[in-house]
Amino acid sequence: MKTWHLSTKNTSYLFGLTDSGHLEHLHYGARLGVFDPLLLHEKMPDPTGLLLDEETKVSLEDLPLEFSTYGKGDIREAMVEIETADKNRVSDFRYVDDKVLDQPYAASDLPWAYGESKSIEITTRDETSGLTLILSYQVYERCDVLARSCRLVNTSDQPVVVHRLLSAQLDLDRNDLLWRTFDGHWAREREVHEKELNSGILINDSKTGTSSNRHNPLVILREKDCDEHRGVCFGLNLVYSGNHATIGEVNAYGKSHVVWGINPHSFAVTLLPGETLESPQAVLTFSDQGLNRLSSQFHAFINTHLIPRRWRSVPRPVLINSWEATYFNFNESKLMKLAKTAADVGIELFVLDDGWFSKRNNDLSSLGDWNVNLKKLPGGLKRLSQKIHGLGLQFGLWVEPEMVSPDSDLYRAHPDWAITIEGRKPTIGRHQLVLDCANPDVQDYLIHTFTDIFSSAPIEYVKWDMNRNLSDLRDGSHAHRYMLGLYRVLRDLTRSFPDILFESCASGGNRFDLGMLAYMPQIWTSDNTDALCRIDIQDATSQGYPLSTMGAHVSAVPNHQTQRVSPLETRFQVACFGVLGYELNLNELSAESLKAIQAQVSFYKEYRELFQFGTFHRISPNNQTNLTDWMVVDDDRSLAILLHFQDRAIANPTTQRLHPIGLDPETLYDFSNRPFDIDIGLFGDLINMVSPVRIKPDSLLHTVVRKMKVLHTEVEHGIADGKSLMAAGIKLKQSNVGGFSDETRIFPDGASRLYLFRKID
Ligand code: DGJ
Repeated sequence: MKTWHLSTKNTSYLFGLTDSGHLEHLHYGARLGVFDPLLLHEKMPDPTGLLLDEETKVSLEDLPLEFSTYGKGDIREAMVEIETADKNRVSDFRYVDDKVLDQPYAASDLPWAYGESKSIEITTRDETSGLTLILSYQVYERCDVLARSCRLVNTSDQPVVVHRLLSAQLDLDRNDLLWRTFDGHWAREREVHEKELNSGILINDSKTGTSSNRHNPLVILREKDCDEHRGVCFGLNLVYSGNHATIGEVNAYGKSHVVWGINPHSFAVTLLPGETLESPQAVLTFSDQGLNRLSSQFHAFINTHLIPRRWRSVPRPVLINSWEATYFNFNESKLMKLAKTAADVGIELFVLDDGWFSKRNNDLSSLGDWNVNLKKLPGGLKRLSQKIHGLGLQFGLWVEPEMVSPDSDLYRAHPDWAITIEGRKPTIGRHQLVLDCANPDVQDYLIHTFTDIFSSAPIEYVKWDMNRNLSDLRDGSHAHRYMLGLYRVLRDLTRSFPDILFESCASGGNRFDLGMLAYMPQIWTSDNTDALCRIDIQDATSQGYPLSTMGAHVSAVPNHQTQRVSPLETRFQVACFGVLGYELNLNELSAESLKAIQAQVSFYKEYRELFQFGTFHRISPNNQTNLTDWMVVDDDRSLAILLHFQDRAIANPTTQRLHPIGLDPETLYDFSNRPFDIDIGLFGDLINMVSPVRIKPDSLLHTVVRKMKVLHTEVEHGIADGKSLMAAGIKLKQSNVGGFSDETRIFPDGASRLYLFRKID
């Protein structure tokens, strides 16, 4: 049997050619050594199903395949479905030839990973229709990731309509996997859900026109006893930012079948003779060492093969964002005051968010009219940027290019540029319409307009926002053409401005996907900056995406999304596990808080490479306890930081113990906690237990005492080798039990600590 063996450091992907010319999937999992592929060949595929022909007895119903098509006996969800000129949807692609590519391949109009170690292509052909289907495989050897895609070439002399061109298929001879998805909505992105992948069909998809916060394209399949540290799991994702679908089923013989790619729902693309339609890259990874390993593989892939080369391993600046500090209500002097305080505490980048253009004093108008509001900023962006630079800060700007307000000069001049259907009242979202990026005139307009804006002042950072879903699409190809148009605009602008750090945003994390990351190396994770919520959101996001991609800000309390009050140090320590920013009015904070922020920024800068690019581990499975522990370890395992977070304090608790992982067993480490001050106001009237005079809570005296007397965090310190630390763990000092001393770890609701492990030379 002719076979193709795609191997990475620890995995093997194997498929072979059947006598009938089909591509039989043989294995995806642990790396194989010497192995006769015939041992994995399906011996009696479905004796009772439909037969392709009487002599060869080939039935497609139960044969594990590299791709399924409709109409010749394969009744599983198809990867490819094409309507030919005579209106039938039957196809039967068989192998023609294959080649190993010398030059890396990349689709010219889609985001694409780079730097693969091997790339192969297999050409297949449907004799009856004359169509050609080419399957592509790329191997990212060192990070144990593979990519798959396919392209359909209309080599016939008739137009055809493509109803499905998914990117990949994974047929596994097992029915014991859990199907994990990352679902949600605005401000509660990527809630983890699991179901059994069993008889019936599961679909994880988006119909919003974005990859969406409803269902992220990341899907993980895991064995039931696989946890963060042990066990078998598969990760699937897609390098695409629009409608996607992952469809899974288990067939009548107990085999799992998963296909994923562009959502086939409402999809229809007419392909004329000579034309080609290409699917985005699907990526897949396998781990037999639990979910942390799977995540690390995806992290390495994204950091080294997907984000723009210019930003690989480049430390990202600490920023202050004006949105929750001022919303639309600002002028130059207010912004400068904010920037001045930001500079004083060590922040590096000032980001001017929404509200700087035309009459944008609320979200009712002006998207599309990108002329500076000279009432707010009399010297324009240039003077503001120069002044910001004068403080030693970089300058960043918010834009929302894909949108137009009905109340805007742009809309009045080009109503046809918005996505609408003639004769039908368009659906409005956040008072705005979507510009039709499928229209080349709109693409050109966007490129010219934003080239001008980005050149109009010294700008080092751009937040590219997108705040509504698509609706009123005109035909089955519109959503995809929108994406291709948007990608053209992004390709052009990011090439013209390689030194601008772009951060993608879509009402927070409504477009947190691999397609966007190919142009913009970081994404605003969620508008929800509540530290307790962020623990869940960042924990889930980390399952498929590295910390370097997650914008994470410290915001005000009560939190603007949840009204919760959580400690400033926890807001910071959670945001450390991402690209740190601040998004609050620093000028309304007390001197003590500003001093604390100054120490935070300096701490983060000292360890930012570790936080942004270190190997990340989730230690305690979330939702099972009131504790969450995360850890980042640097490449040579000489430095690591562990976050210990508690959402809900328990009275009379048992000892809390840390379980560090990922350390070097042979290295000797100095272990300590990050110190900070604790406000004694936290104790309310308990302060009277130690005070010689009675202090009434919230009285003037209480405020004065709070200012004069601060508590310091407990001191934890020790020396141990990595092997012992990982084997035995570390018992922490007791928290809040009847009384207080220097040995007490003050650890109420929402408390957290960072623990450092430093190699001793
Ligand atoms: C939505 C974003 O997620 C916010 O951070 C902010 O930029 C607003 N848009 C501005 O309108």
